[in-house]
Amino acid sequence: MCGIVGVVGSKNATDILIQGLQKLEYRGYDSAGIFVADKNGNQNLVKAVGRISALQEKIGIEVNGSSGIGHTRWATHGKPSEVNAHPHVSASFRFVLVHNGVIENFKELKEKYLASDKFVGETDTEIVVHLIGKLIEEENLSVVEGFQKALKLIEGSFAFALMDKKNPEVIYVAKNKSPLLIGLGDGYNMVCSDAMAMIRETNRFLEIHDGEMVIVRKDAVEIIDTDGVTRKREPYIAKLDLSDIGKGTYPYYMLKEIDEQPAVMRKIMQEYMSEDSPHQMKVDQEILEAVVKADRIYIIAAGTSSHAGWAAKAFFEQMTQTPVEVCLSSEFGYNIPLLSQNPLFIYISQSGETADSRQVLVKMKELGCKALTITNVPGSTLSREADYTLLLHASPEIAVASTKAYTAQIAVMAVLAKAVGEYIENSTARSFNLIKELSLVANAIEALLTEKELIEQKVAKHLQDTRNAFYIGRGADYYASMEAALKLKEISYIQCEGFAAGELKHGTIALIEEGTPVQALISNQEIASHTRGNVMEVVSRGAKVLTIVSQDCAQADDDLVVQTVHPFLTCIAMVVPTQLVAYYATLQRGLDVDKPRNLAKSVTVE
Ligand code: M6R
Repeated sequence: MCGIVGVVGSKNATDILIQGLQKLEYRGYDSAGIFVADKNGNQNLVKAVGRISALQEKIGIEVNGSSGIGHTRWATHGKPSEVNAHPHVSASFRFVLVHNGVIENFKELKEKYLASDKFVGETDTEIVVHLIGKLIEEENLSVVEGFQKALKLIEGSFAFALMDKKNPEVIYVAKNKSPLLIGLGDGYNMVCSDAMAMIRETNRFLEIHDGEMVIVRKDAVEIIDTDGVTRKREPYIAKLDLSDIGKGTYPYYMLKEIDEQPAVMRKIMQEYMSEDSPHQMKVDQEILEAVVKADRIYIIAAGTSSHAGWAAKAFFEQMTQTPVEVCLSSEFGYNIPLLSQNPLFIYISQSGETADSRQVLVKMKELGCKALTITNVPGSTLSREADYTLLLHASPEIAVASTKAYTAQIAVMAVLAKAVGEYIENSTARSFNLIKELSLVANAIEALLTEKELIEQKVAKHLQDTRNAFYIGRGADYYASMEAALKLKEISYIQCEGFAAGELKHGTIALIEEGTPVQALISNQEIASHTRGNVMEVVSRGAKVLTIVSQDCAQADDDLVVQTVHPFLTCIAMVVPTQLVAYYATLQRGLDVDKPRNLAKSVTVE
């Protein structure tokens, strides 16, 4: 979603801002802009619709200076256009603002304080910068006083970076619910909504907490809390490697990330294997106790991460002997079910920034419920605000379509389930050799990755020119089907549903007609014959079927065969070919695999 960068005190602010915005491109956006200034009065505001490259084309040599702010916008209030792109300016043009998040009371603010102002666009952000300008100029306040007064009037989520053209050596920032960090440079300082944006410049970052305002100068950073008191805070070192966020020789991040999955499986084993015994898992005692104390686990997640929750539910229940509910975060917070006496909430989130999940975490913490976050991003909001964190160790995932994070999420849930099962002396967990089983999973994925050409050819025949398709499966294959369908639809724009195979005949089979593509996932011998029966039902009605089956269920005419893995981990192995199906279907349609339309990598608004 929207991204913020800012720098003050650098020799080449334009370059730093553009490089930073490029690093944020993966998050999804539809327009971008920068404001660059120096102390001699050279000040330029440039915006463009579309990619950063379109913005770069508009930047002439006059756009240079020592400080500035930049933004990538993912449209919420108002269509993608140059006037709606950030930065926005106040009525007198003195103040310049970039914003991530959503201002909920923007209409009320406009009517109450800005009735006579003229606005060029439709954004909530333009209203905020007008408000800040008005308060400062009409009430003769300092920038800090005026900004603070405006913040008290604003309701919603925000990360703001504000500049005053009269004093462009300072950036004023504030946040509530939306992520924002300060990057510490040598003789210059930076602002960014994601450490990745500034990792080329520094690995030293300062967190900002909700409600705080920060005054950033080239040689000083002052944090002011909600009571106006100055706070001291130690920086942390972001463990991000620049090479992890490059594409290397790959045409797309998605393919690179699919290929990284065997290595991620092995990394997870290495990180969580106990030094004492290779059969035991190393998980903090307090996390184990929190799970053991719980009478019910609520998994809260969105999109692919919620599918990982479904994939983990059955084995988690079996190994921990605790019932598990999987809930969509965007629904849960506003429709809270009757909770058990002693619940534990597990938030699964690749980014650790998903606003829908965070609103649940905030509400549940208010009710006193403990929170464990499973995330790929150390120091992310969901990680910081939870009581406990388990990391995915999957290295940064850049493609919008989540692949390696999904398989890592299931693997880390298995680590936790196994560790808890051992702790409570559950026999299912004791006899489950997770390290051996994850090694087999890594091997199975490796074998699948050698089948790319075959998958590409099958996809060309099977999904060409179609507007819709189905994935079907039973049990774990149903959960894998939900993820497979999401992957296909989000990047290829083929309308695709993941269905419980047995449920088709209760309505949806009406949609099957001559040539409808159906992909069937079959990895459980006990129910394979039922799913094969459902395959026959759709074939009889004209569907063309592609079967993806595990070796132990395979028949001579199946299309893709996946090495058999432990039933607990079958979703990991079965989803990998479907990731490749989505990848090749998208390539064959000439679409941008990594940046699907309308989507953002990190969804920081509710
Ligand atoms: O960062 P999170 O895991 O919390 O993100 C949740 C979803 O937005 C995400 O999984 C989304 O569904 C993926 N882009 C799908 O590939």
